Amino acid sequence: MDLIIRNGIVVTETDVQPLDVGIAGGRIAALGYRLDATGASEIDASGSFVLPGGVDSHTHIEEPFMGTTTSDDWYQGTSAAAAGGTTTVVDFAYQLPGGSLHDAVERWHRKAGANAIVDYAFHVVIVDPRPDVLAEIPVLVAEGYTSFKLFMCYDGLALDDLAILRILRVARECGGLPMIHAENDGLIRYLIEEALAAGESHPRWTARTRPPVAEVEATNRILQLAELIDVPIYIVHMSSGDAVDVLDRARDGGQIAIGETCPHYLALDGDEIEADGWEAARFTCAPPIRPHPNHERLWHHVSRGTLAAIGSDHDCFDLNGQKLLGRDRFDAIPLGIPGVETRLPVVLSEGARRRHLDLRTLVAALSTNPARLLGLYPRKGTIAISSDADLVVYDPRRETTITREALHQRVDFTPFEGWPVVGYPVLTVRRGQVVARDNEILAPRGSGACVTRGISSLFSS
Ligand code: URP
Ligand code: ZN
Ligand code: ZN
Repeated sequence: MDLIIRNGIVVTETDVQPLDVGIAGGRIAALGYRLDATGASEIDASGSFVLPGGVDSHTHIEEPFMGTTTSDDWYQGTSAAAAGGTTTVVDFAYQLPGGSLHDAVERWHRKAGANAIVDYAFHVVIVDPRPDVLAEIPVLVAEGYTSFKLFMCYDGLALDDLAILRILRVARECGGLPMIHAENDGLIRYLIEEALAAGESHPRWTARTRPPVAEVEATNRILQLAELIDVPIYIVHMSSGDAVDVLDRARDGGQIAIGETCPHYLALDGDEIEADGWEAARFTCAPPIRPHPNHERLWHHVSRGTLAAIGSDHDCFDLNGQKLLGRDRFDAIPLGIPGVETRLPVVLSEGARRRHLDLRTLVAALSTNPARLLGLYPRKGTIAISSDADLVVYDPRRETTITREALHQRVDFTPFEGWPVVGYPVLTVRRGQVVARDNEILAPRGSGACVTRGISSLFSS
């Protein structure tokens, strides 16, 4: 064996077992209690859990958005991922208006290829669905780009129902997974107009102008449109308990649809953005973080499997940099929150430690489910013979207080500043290579690889 991780408790979505993990050629080659083999290198994981490497379904690295560009590059963003126990990120490649989807993918490859240190794949964002663009969708699916994000809001990104229906139809035929940002555009624009007319400028208005009804209405509408076309859908970054209830009811009625939420919606509540002063802009994102006790409703839906994936929606804009674009006008604040590095520790600490959720359910939400839903399974997302040796040694005794200084995310704040977590990833292995150990990055720039994806498991549900 090239590497053996000994004496850990291996956790998958189905099992919690004391097992040694033998690795050869970047893949898991042996699993057994006290493996009778030797490794060129051996790691003692006594007292720790060994988890499948995190699969982050939702990142925005080096991305132009709202008149600026996120502040991390692919080396910095994926270093943060590695330090936080994530071994695969799935990022969003944006079509340019007038451009092609293939151009989007090529631009993203140019950014990631020489720089990433964890493995990566791309969703393709469709903003200009001309007939020639629709024709690219099946080609991209055949090439391994099997999910497509559609926005129902935002200037320059929002698609109307007709455009969405056309895309859903093509997606159904070729097995492309539609991923939906579900917020009602007109309603938000109307509330922004009203708030600006009333002279409001504080960052809290980014949340107040995006009330739950905006998410509920769009969630309901996209579910109806998807039902009409009979195509599975994946609703990204759900924050409102009411909206997830709508999704839950549709699933109960037999519709094939799934939700993703994010650590900031599960851990934080709506009070933070209400504080006076510019610091409140640390919590500006869309959809917004909802007031207490909304997050307990989201945890319920994580346990139930309606929110099957927890993605970071990692989106770095410096508080005293890019976000200042909206210093005097809240609607110009670039929306987004960093989180690729804190995703695993926050979710495991808040979910397993504080709320006593089953570790297997959380491992599924952080790794196995996103891998399945995004066509990466079983290469990614599990600990099984022949799967990529993507592993995290997670020490449940390690107590840490999150601070920006200790993180690798290239951004001047974390929304979790001062947040205590019990348990932390202490070692991250990507395809058999140790990429991070005790917060130190050990992988060379460019050692991450693009992963070709298959069709989402939702198409065979
Ligand atoms: O606030 C957010 N989510 N910003 C990123 C863009 C998006 O909608 O995912
Ligand atoms: Zn979105
Ligand atoms: Zn996002």
